[in-house]
Amino acid sequence: MNLKPFLTAAALAALAVSPVFALTEQEINANVAALISKMTLEEKVGQLNQLSGLGYSPEMVNAIKAGNVGSILNETDPAIVNKLQREAIENSRLGIPLIIARDVIHGYKTIFPIPLGQAASWSEEIVEEGARIAAEEASSVGIRWTFSPMVDIARDPRWGRMAEGFGEDPVLTTRLGMAMTRGYQGDDLSKPNTMAACAKHFAGYGASESGKDYNTTWIPEVQLRDVYLPPFEAQAKGGAATFMCSFNDICGVPSSGNKHLLTDILRDEWGWDGLMVSDWGSIQQMIPHGYSADLRQAAEQAANAGVDVDMEGYAYIGYLKDLVEKGEVSTEQLDNLVANVLRLKYRLGLFENPYIDESKINFYAPSSLAAAQKAVEQSTVLLKNDGILPIKKGVKKIAVIGPMADAQHDQAGTWVFDLEKEHCVTPLTSLREKYGKKNVTYVPGVKFSRDLSHDGFDEAVKAAKDADIVLFFAGEEAVLSGEAHCRTDLTLPGAQKELMAALAETGTPIVMVVQAGRPLVMNDEVAKAAAVVYCFHGGTMTGPGLTALLAGDANFSGKLPVSFPKASAQVPLYYAHKNTGRPAEGMTLINDIPLEAGQTSTGCTSFYLDCGDGPAFPFGYGLSYNNYSYSDPKLSSATLTPGETITVTCDVTNNGSREGREVVQLYVRDHVGSLIRPVKELKDFASVTLAPGETKTVSFEINPEMLSFYNAQLQKVTEPGEFSVWVAPNSESGSPASFSYSDK
Ligand code: BGC
Repeated sequence: MNLKPFLTAAALAALAVSPVFALTEQEINANVAALISKMTLEEKVGQLNQLSGLGYSPEMVNAIKAGNVGSILNETDPAIVNKLQREAIENSRLGIPLIIARDVIHGYKTIFPIPLGQAASWSEEIVEEGARIAAEEASSVGIRWTFSPMVDIARDPRWGRMAEGFGEDPVLTTRLGMAMTRGYQGDDLSKPNTMAACAKHFAGYGASESGKDYNTTWIPEVQLRDVYLPPFEAQAKGGAATFMCSFNDICGVPSSGNKHLLTDILRDEWGWDGLMVSDWGSIQQMIPHGYSADLRQAAEQAANAGVDVDMEGYAYIGYLKDLVEKGEVSTEQLDNLVANVLRLKYRLGLFENPYIDESKINFYAPSSLAAAQKAVEQSTVLLKNDGILPIKKGVKKIAVIGPMADAQHDQAGTWVFDLEKEHCVTPLTSLREKYGKKNVTYVPGVKFSRDLSHDGFDEAVKAAKDADIVLFFAGEEAVLSGEAHCRTDLTLPGAQKELMAALAETGTPIVMVVQAGRPLVMNDEVAKAAAVVYCFHGGTMTGPGLTALLAGDANFSGKLPVSFPKASAQVPLYYAHKNTGRPAEGMTLINDIPLEAGQTSTGCTSFYLDCGDGPAFPFGYGLSYNNYSYSDPKLSSATLTPGETITVTCDVTNNGSREGREVVQLYVRDHVGSLIRPVKELKDFASVTLAPGETKTVSFEINPEMLSFYNAQLQKVTEPGEFSVWVAPNSESGSPASFSYSDK
């Protein structure tokens, strides 16, 4: 099998973290082997057991002293962390330190935009800095392992967990996922201000059937390798210290028991030597899946597949000793699992430096808050603007309406266990600061996003009538996305649609600002609004970030990391789709079909009668206060051969009057393949900052490996033929240049 990585070796090296450990890898491995040789069977099994925090309870202390627990999740009191660690170091036989883990997903105390929001920045700097700040804050209380980044490709916004990842595209997810890992792990994992990253959920979880969480997936291996595995391959080769396997099954095999995935691909093929943790109880859950008859069999299947740590599943602590004694799991395999855990403890420097300095806790540093605000500014997407934004100087009376205008808890988004909501600055607070309290009238209209009541409508309509401009803060509460929070109706929840319609009746121009955990379907609302701003959930500094953008103190530059559907039933939806034998054209929509028309009246192409084809807003889309123009791309050669590269250049001009950042995207189409290729695939992207009137030449390199894919024999190949290439502001625009690839 040809085992070329998804990215070129050079590209992977550029994404990688620098694994400078206090000890050399050789020393670490020698220490690990020496330690294992001293361990009893019970102590080995104990290292593989992860328990959720029980405080400094007798139960936990006894487990630690007996060597029955290797890591703890969800303990965040620094004094307790030190006390538990002291029990492990001083009162367990071998003095092996614990690892303290936590889901620090988009910030610990200073909350950044949800990962899907961060993805809209298309900025590795923003993502890396956010993760660095999260690591600084969380490690100060003793958290040295975060269960992040989630690099699951998600193409179905019904799935609530789309909020936790970087969207629909493998290249964007790979690059931003690695930026997050670099931020967490820093330049030396053994420093006390780092956290081990955890690439999750391995694998295919985002393909959960019908967007319902934990659901089954059916992913052929070619698709797994082309779409779902690339971000994980980069994490494995680029230095992620840990992985988490997923809840779902792929083609009938739950990930927690999938040796092909966990060992053959991850360890043998990609050469990874990190730690694999189960998802919460996922070993035990192989029983309800119907893959394991009982917990003992589940433990055997997981251990032999290559799950190192059992998170809250009680399978290993209950049965692994017996399985090893009876030879159903070999001592060699057990030692492999234990070595992966101990190696991480050495890499984190925990043997040398197990305790934290409780006086060094530093949350909400001014520089962290400034970074969080910048993240909001760069990750908010302007979807529509008829010229009403930025808010004009002459505007005196602003009506702030909607459930998300002053929602400190909800603007933080999903997966924020450590929120102190009083630190969240809302749009209402910032707008009042900017425009003066007397000029900003606030009427929520509905109390929260799901509120069905119309009781507040009259007051909201009155405020709208009296105002020069309405800022309607719509969206979803935080709890409507994230794990196990899936929706079939992707429109604005509660009575928000009706509220928007009532506000529109007043004739006062409306700027709709949406905060949500997923793309929403908003056709009518977009039509009624003079401008639409999409922020996902922006975290602590949502208010200042949005206010700067609305006022024109900052410029929009965010671009969508996912396709926005026109209808809930249009999903899954993604730009890199296959063309079909009858691509959409000549669409006759439902109201244009004549009565008693013939069966073939719609032209028999691939579209929906009621919403046609394509997204409401395409992947990569986002406006700015400037208008940028792109020249046609120029290629350094019309032919590519093995070992060569083609340079693609494009002149991007800022025709506006402000400085701005433009995210320039490179797409390629492989026209004919032994397996059909998508209509377009993102291959690279770059941000350019342009002064008013400035033109910059953006250049990208294309090499044969970037054009490769898995063929039916699971070989990674670049097939000779014709290719189109676009350098464009989004996945739907631009005119292509072409080249051919020849392997001669
Ligand atoms: C989630 C993981 C998370 C884990 C630990 C699970 O339910 O799927 O993403 O890291 O819990 O909290």
